[in-house]
Amino acid sequence: MAKGHKDKIAIITGAAGGIGQAFAKRLAEDGVHIAIADLGDGAATVKMVEAAGRKAVAIKCDVSEPQSVTTMANEVKKHFGHADIVVNCAGIFPQRAFTDMTYDDWRKVMSINLDSAFLVASAFAPGMIERKWGRIVNMASSTLGSVVTGFAHYVASKGGIVGFTRALATDLAPHGITVNAIAPGLTRSPGTLARKPREGLKSMDEEFESVAQMQAIKRVEVPDDLVGTVSYLTSDDAAFITGQTLNVDGGRVRS
Ligand SMILES: NC(=O)c1ccc[n+]([C@@H]2O[C@H](COP(=O)([O-])OP(=O)(O)OC[C@H]3O[C@@H](n4cnc5c(N)ncnc54)[C@H](O)[C@@H]3O)[C@@H](O)[C@H]2O)c1
Repeated sequence: MAKGHKDKIAIITGAAGGIGQAFAKRLAEDGVHIAIADLGDGAATVKMVEAAGRKAVAIKCDVSEPQSVTTMANEVKKHFGHADIVVNCAGIFPQRAFTDMTYDDWRKVMSINLDSAFLVASAFAPGMIERKWGRIVNMASSTLGSVVTGFAHYVASKGGIVGFTRALATDLAPHGITVNAIAPGLTRSPGTLARKPREGLKSMDEEFESVAQMQAIKRVEVPDDLVGTVSYLTSDDAAFITGQTLNVDGGRVRS
C-alpha cells in the first residue's frame, strides 16, 4: 500500500475504460475509495474497485460542461463527503489534417482535454485547501515532444495541460496540495485501438509496434505501465514533487 493512501477518496475522470480504469483499479488496491466521472458506463470499474475492497461510485459526467462538472462534484460530496485526489484522465484524440481542422474541432478537443482540467480542479481544490492536503494529477502526452501529424489541437491541449500543471502547482503549494502531470507514449487502450493507423501502416497493431521501436524499451505501452506513477504521485512519498510532468513512455521522449 502506498504511503498515505488508506481511506483517501479519489475522483478519476475518464475512468470507465482505458488508462483511467487502470488508475482506478490500482488506487483501489492502494486503499483509496474511487468516484468515476465519465460519459460512459462506469459499472465495470465499480466492480474492479469493489473487488479490491474499496467503495466506488460511477457518475455520468461530461467533463467539458461546467454544469455537468458542478453536478458531478455535488454527487461526489454527497456520496463521500469530499475528495483528496483528483486525476484528470478523460480525453479525446481525433486525428485531423490541419487544413481540414475547423474551429469546432479545435474547441471540442480544447474543452474536453484542457477546460475539463480547470473545471474539475476548481470544483475540488477548495475542499483540499480546507483539509490542507490534496493531490491533482493531469494527463499530458509524449506527442508534445514528438513528430506527429494531424494533432495540432491535441498537442496544443496537452501543452496547455503542462502549463496549467506548473501554474496550479505554485498556487496550491501553500495548502499542502501537489499538482503533477503524466505524459504517456502511445498506449494500447480502447481509444487508441479505435483510431485509424498512420498513413502507410495496415493496422493499429503495426503502429503500436513501430512506436515501440522508437522507445528505449522496445515493447508496446499498456495502461498498467502508468499505474505505478499515479500511485506514487498521489502518495505521501511524493509530497515534495510538484509542477512536474513525468514522461512514462519507455524512454522515447527526453525532457
Ligand atoms: N492512449 C494513449 O496512447 C495516450 C497517450 C498519451 C496521453 N493519453 C491521454 O490519456 C488519457 C486517457 O486516454 P485513453 O487512451 O485511456 O483513452 P480512452 O479513449 O481509452 O478512454 C477515455 C475515457 O474518457 C472518457 N471521456 C471522453 N470524453 C469525455 C467527456 N467529455 N466527459 C467525460 N468522460 C469522457 C471516455 O468515455 C473514456 O472512458 C487521455 O487524456 C489521453 O489524451 C493517452
